[in-house]
Amino acid sequence: MNSSPGLDSPAEPFTAQQELCPPIYYNQMKNQKDGAKIISSLKAFLHQRIEDISFTDNMYYDEDFFAKSIENNFAGWYDADALKQQIGFILQHCKVTPNSKVLDAACGHGRHAELLCRRGHEVLATDISDQLITHLTEKYGDKRLLFEKRTFMEINYSQIFDLAIVLANSLGLIPRDEFVIVLNKLSRSLKKDGWLFVELDNRSHFVKNEAGKRSWSYHADRWLVLSEHHYDSENRLEKTVDISVDFADMSVNQFLLTKSLYDYNELCNLLASANFIVRKSFGDWEGNEISEASPSLLIAAQNRL
Ligand SMILES: C[S@@+](CC[C@H](N)C(=O)[O-])C[C@H]1O[C@@H](n2cnc3c(N)ncnc32)[C@H](O)[C@@H]1O
Repeated sequence: MNSSPGLDSPAEPFTAQQELCPPIYYNQMKNQKDGAKIISSLKAFLHQRIEDISFTDNMYYDEDFFAKSIENNFAGWYDADALKQQIGFILQHCKVTPNSKVLDAACGHGRHAELLCRRGHEVLATDISDQLITHLTEKYGDKRLLFEKRTFMEINYSQIFDLAIVLANSLGLIPRDEFVIVLNKLSRSLKKDGWLFVELDNRSHFVKNEAGKRSWSYHADRWLVLSEHHYDSENRLEKTVDISVDFADMSVNQFLLTKSLYDYNELCNLLASANFIVRKSFGDWEGNEISEASPSLLIAAQNRL
């Protein structure tokens, strides 16, 4: 992620929708003289900056991106109720018994790993980020909740787990030619008939709803983010750039991420080639059927090896 210290670019006319600004900061700002204008100028500035970005390079992952959120204790990242619902959903559809052994690959902030452990399972959570793994080990580490720094390609366990989860489109972060290799590694890590639960973004949803568009969001009541999404149809890749202002110190950051996109049929074929039988599939966490309009591909598959 690149940082730029200043925001001294010329401001443009006020066109912003104020309700899209982070509420805490917006509330502070709007009481200041010209607060709304400042926010609007920031938006104009971000629009200007995004024009200069080239989408020709692929950038798969910046190891430090998620680690940056350690400093504010992951504040504002997750909704506790949604998390509970996701764990309930996974355990309902993957028929694992109590006290099972679970692998959480690309565990991120460890949110699922921690909750699965509290539900009585023994969990090993892995991630590419050294900083995250060190932090999570200090925060939650226990003999029933272990964290290991390990990339997807370094997952080399042998028939240990009853369940492996790979959530929040993490498998989309690796190049397409590594995908089946990683699925095979997950298959070998699972016991026979063990379960794999994956969550990926649905390609057709991205192409229809996001490709070629810009959108505003705010994150963790702290960052105002402008995102621009591109679709590389030849390679079936998403290329998204996020440019944000961090209201804590007014720094500007930009982050370009390439993600491999899959559709349902392709995913089923890839899973089958890596010894998995798809048992259940859903298009969202409400349990709706998969269609072209579904935002996600949620798959519960069983290992035949
Ligand atoms: C979108 S986050 C998802 C985290 C977590 N699964 C969740 O649902 O909260 C993606 C995670 O993938 C990790 N990651 C990215 N590339 C990876 C790789 N090649 N091998 C292992 N982990 C990777 C990142 O460090 C990050 O923690």
